[in-house]
Amino acid sequence: MHRDSNVKSAADDGIKMQKKCETMIIIKMEPRHILDVAKLEAEIFSVPWSQQAFAGALEMDQAFFYVAQEADAVVGYCGVSLAADEAEITNIATAPGRRRRNIAKRLLQKAMDEAHERGAQRMFLEVRSLNKPAIGLYQKTGFQTVGIRKKYYRHPQDDALVMMYRYADII
Ligand SMILES: CC(C)(COP(=O)(O)OP(=O)(O)OC[C@H]1O[C@@H](n2cnc3c(N)ncnc32)[C@H](O)[C@@H]1OP(=O)(O)O)[C@@H](O)C(=O)NCCC(=O)NCCS
Repeated sequence: MHRDSNVKSAADDGIKMQKKCETMIIIKMEPRHILDVAKLEAEIFSVPWSQQAFAGALEMDQAFFYVAQEADAVVGYCGVSLAADEAEITNIATAPGRRRRNIAKRLLQKAMDEAHERGAQRMFLEVRSLNKPAIGLYQKTGFQTVGIRKKYYRHPQDDALVMMYRYADII
């Protein structure tokens, strides 16, 4: 992610929830979700995307978002930007109280599938080197570290890992 994706709260990250997400659905993000997504974003990141930023991205042909919804509440979201045959994860987060229930994994899988259907051969992302939950998610999904951007993030300072997923049918 190009922005400073400092994570404010990950207090419940270590809690392994027994209950999986029976009632959770993954759907394409629509304008009606912007307020809830921006609220979650502000809760989770120190330099959050604004409502306007999400609204602008939603209008772009080369960007798309999915949300995870449970009983009408948005509990996660994932955004992708496409450029030629490459895709980039621009946003991904799960509500603090809903973590370790495969929500991000399912969001990411949907996003990866659509990016591939729309021509992506590789998917990239940037992640703080100290963000173990996110790195764990990406590794589990098949991303590999392909570079490091030293001191890329501020508040607090951290390196960015550049991770890449290569779709299997690439020659
Ligand atoms: C990273 C984040 C999106 C993961 O969301 P989640 O819904 O809890 O993730 P999932 O339940 O789908 O986890 C899938 C896999 O990711 C890995 N993972 C997730 N949380 C982890 C943690 N705290 N520690 C280690 N591995 C973790 C595990 O391999 C997990 O599989 P498992 O539960 O079978 O072991 C969530 O912690 C979050 O919102 N963090 C703050 C925002 C953020 O950092 N976004 C990424 C910015 S680059």
